[in-house]
Amino acid sequence: MALYEDMKVFSGNAHRKLAKDICAYMDIPLGKCEVFKFSNDNTFVRILENIRQQDVFLVQPIAYPVNDHIMELLIMIDAAKRASAGRITAVVPYFAYARSDKKDQPRVPITARLVANLIETAGADRVLTLELHAGQIQGFFNIPLDELSAIPELAQHFKERQVENNIVVVATDAGDAKRARNMAYRLDAPLAIVEKVRLGNQERVESATLIGDVRDRTAIIVDDEIGTGGTVIATANTLRGHGARDIYCYAAHAVLAANATEVLEQSDIKQLVVTDSLPVPPVKMGTKTSIISVAPMLGEAIQRIHTGSSVGAMFNGGGVA
Ligand code: R5P
Repeated sequence: MALYEDMKVFSGNAHRKLAKDICAYMDIPLGKCEVFKFSNDNTFVRILENIRQQDVFLVQPIAYPVNDHIMELLIMIDAAKRASAGRITAVVPYFAYARSDKKDQPRVPITARLVANLIETAGADRVLTLELHAGQIQGFFNIPLDELSAIPELAQHFKERQVENNIVVVATDAGDAKRARNMAYRLDAPLAIVEKVRLGNQERVESATLIGDVRDRTAIIVDDEIGTGGTVIATANTLRGHGARDIYCYAAHAVLAANATEVLEQSDIKQLVVTDSLPVPPVKMGTKTSIISVAPMLGEAIQRIHTGSSVGAMFNGGGVA
């Protein structure tokens, strides 16, 4: 039984299409609100519907421009709190700053923790997110957080469209092996791991050691996000050097920063499959890119949170913890 009788979903400016698609899945209208900047660069939010004692979901992936969209989210949460919402869930399908999750150099921040604190301090009661860079980021929040996985959808896409059977799933980094292992499990394929080395803070990546056998196999690279594309390209080069055949790339979040699209277009990667957790503007849409929607999954999770049913049950019957 639902704790709060009424439910409403609102969107910031980060990805209104996703919010609309989520609402379409749930067969409810997207809530009305205005979110804009005054000429002095200050963000303003006004919720245009009554939300007193209602279950409120605010959809805002932290898309480019990242800092503006964080502020929008925080101000929307504040507006909802001051409008006496019964419960506020921040729906953040892409959590930016997630790579800043530890102090791995002297005198650096842990920005993912800071952003988590900000969301909580603004007044969110829960968070719903998708494929965090590292699962441990869940612990940066002291409020309930549901993390959905994009792997079942990505695996399903590969199963439905590809005919290759001699495949290997490849993690781009030892730290990412669990995500790739989950994909490998779903595709009943072996796993290989490429060791990644980041060179300073220059966003340059080198891949070196390969663990596993990729020779004469079709390789499926799995990653949480495509940033500059450097990781995927470096991984693909290593795989080629070890005799892999066709190379596919499956990733949850299409950040596509800098000239990632051009880099991927010019590479010999056969196909890039990503989700719509982030908007992909037409100019960033490469000829090899396919986008699968996570709106139904997010809509289903929102419905389950609203009614107090299990979100974990959505993922039963596949994958490994
Ligand atoms: C980093 O550890 C992540 O898992 C991704 O591999 C990374 O964010 C991709 O970034 P880029 O495309 O810039 O190499």
